[in-house]
Amino acid sequence: PLALALTAVLSYLLGSIPFGVLVTRAMGLGDLRAIGSGNIGATNVLRTGNKAAAAATLVLDGAKGAVAVLVARAMLGEDAAQVAALFSFLGHLFPVWLGFRGGKGVATFLGTMIALDWRIGLACCATWLVVALVGRISSLSALVATASASLWLFIFGQGQLFVLVVVLTVLVYVRHWPNIQRLKAGTEPKIGAKKG
Ligand code: G3P
Repeated sequence: PLALALTAVLSYLLGSIPFGVLVTRAMGLGDLRAIGSGNIGATNVLRTGNKAAAAATLVLDGAKGAVAVLVARAMLGEDAAQVAALFSFLGHLFPVWLGFRGGKGVATFLGTMIALDWRIGLACCATWLVVALVGRISSLSALVATASASLWLFIFGQGQLFVLVVVLTVLVYVRHWPNIQRLKAGTEPKIGAKKG
């Protein structure tokens, strides 16, 4: 239990690193929370017009979830890997450094999925991409891709991940509440559009 508690704390701290804010600041693009939707994720970084900054944010926010899972699994096994996935994700959503006002969790969700089972992770990424190519709306892609994870995990025989995946998916939906309202109203901006 002590090892799992330590896994939770360290994963939370890793997940709480707000790479979007850091990358945007380091590249002289301003304060991310004053741009677009104010969210700290890659989608909002793209609203600065800097694709490299957005890509770096996507990769780093995904990698922190993946690294937490892989390290926990290597040291303590599968239960710890799930704890690491949950807490790195919670770190991204509720980072102590930003007064617990963090992101929406999509990149970190995908990163943890890739590390938990790369087939499920890739299937989720592919789902995101297909919906994005058709609809060109990041939040819609995220909502479909995260929901699809529950389907993929049964297809790939990983039913033991179900509770974790449902918890993460519900949190993604809760964080996308304003996006869902805009999607319903037909006012959600397309990927790369300046307003959000
Ligand atoms: O990953 C977050 C994305 O789904 C929505 O971001 O900035 O459009 O609210 P944003």
